[in-house]
Amino acid sequence: MNTTLNLISEFQSIFETPLTPRTFFAPGRINLIGEHTDYNGGHVFPAAISYGTYALAKKRDDQTFRFYSMNFPKIGIIECNLPDLAFNENDNWANYPKGMILFIKEAGYDIQQGADVLFYGNIPNGAGLSSSASIELATGVLLNGLFDLKLNRIPMIQLGQKVENEYIGVNSGIMDQFAIGMGKKDHALLLNCQTLEYKYAPIVLDNYVIMIMNTNKQRTLAGSKYNERRSQCEQALSDLQSKLAITSLGELTPSQFDENKHLIRTEINQKRAKHAVYENARTLEALEKLQQGDLKGFGKLMNVSHLSLKDDYEVTGLELDTLVQAAWEHDGVLGARMTGAGFGGCAIAVVAEDQIDNFKKNINNIYREKVGYEATFYTAAIGDGAKEISEEW
Ligand code: GLA
Repeated sequence: MNTTLNLISEFQSIFETPLTPRTFFAPGRINLIGEHTDYNGGHVFPAAISYGTYALAKKRDDQTFRFYSMNFPKIGIIECNLPDLAFNENDNWANYPKGMILFIKEAGYDIQQGADVLFYGNIPNGAGLSSSASIELATGVLLNGLFDLKLNRIPMIQLGQKVENEYIGVNSGIMDQFAIGMGKKDHALLLNCQTLEYKYAPIVLDNYVIMIMNTNKQRTLAGSKYNERRSQCEQALSDLQSKLAITSLGELTPSQFDENKHLIRTEINQKRAKHAVYENARTLEALEKLQQGDLKGFGKLMNVSHLSLKDDYEVTGLELDTLVQAAWEHDGVLGARMTGAGFGGCAIAVVAEDQIDNFKKNINNIYREKVGYEATFYTAAIGDGAKEISEEW
């Protein structure tokens, strides 16, 4: 489909206007390695992908915002007013843009008028590719563009995380919003989540591609399990602080952790913390491997990461394990692991180009047999972060 023209004419028909809206785009993300390390003060290594959320918007003269998503046509237009942006269950998906507007206003930026906004996302929902952070940042860049707010990118990213934490109620870290806000074509981004220092690393894969494998498993319990993992890590940290002067698990090397792990009072919390510390070290090592052009070494670290998420952090499950295990055993695969929060969602694999078709067919056969339904496969193209794209169209 010609996305441009279709979205503009959809906007004009939904909002009954001949005017041409401005167009913004925010990507989704994959995380190459560094999982469940962001809220532990460690490093992450994500990249923005070419799938994402389009937002077409036109200012209004009054204080009303009207939102419409082509992904939820049955819900229709959701309307809200600037003076009343409180979370409302009935507003469904529109709580994400509403939360962004509220927090940007509360941060002191001047929004006096409303807008009509049409969203269209081609990231599969609930697949762990950050469709929600993508809507948040799409809203951020559109508000910045329409109302000339001069809101810098890092504060915009932080407000996106605040929406997730304080408005939606998921205690997530900064990774998703950061990757989506700061992504760069053909690069991954190494982020220190404690200091927010970051650097870009070119992704040079030679004759390999990054394949995204979607379990198609709905992640209904994701929020609560996620918050549980986070508090287990906080308890482990507080036990360690009885002796160590640290403010996050990310400050420990694996050997420092091993020397002090007895301070953590439960075996479960020891395992959770072990994952966080070792995964952080692996993430730094993975960057080095990539910089040295050692894709094999990089792939091995991905595999170890998955095992740690399976055995110590316990966030994988039958669906993700089946895909990843099958990928490990397939020809032409350098590495595979779950990506994102886990509990369903997606895994990624580094696959030789000449194996792509075999890979999809064989892995899907194994998956169908074991899990009972199909997996979906996409090749990941690494794209830019959130921005206005009116001019590019
Ligand atoms: C989700 C969260 C992120 C991060 C990952 C796990 O995507 O939104 O902040 O914690 O899970 O690495």
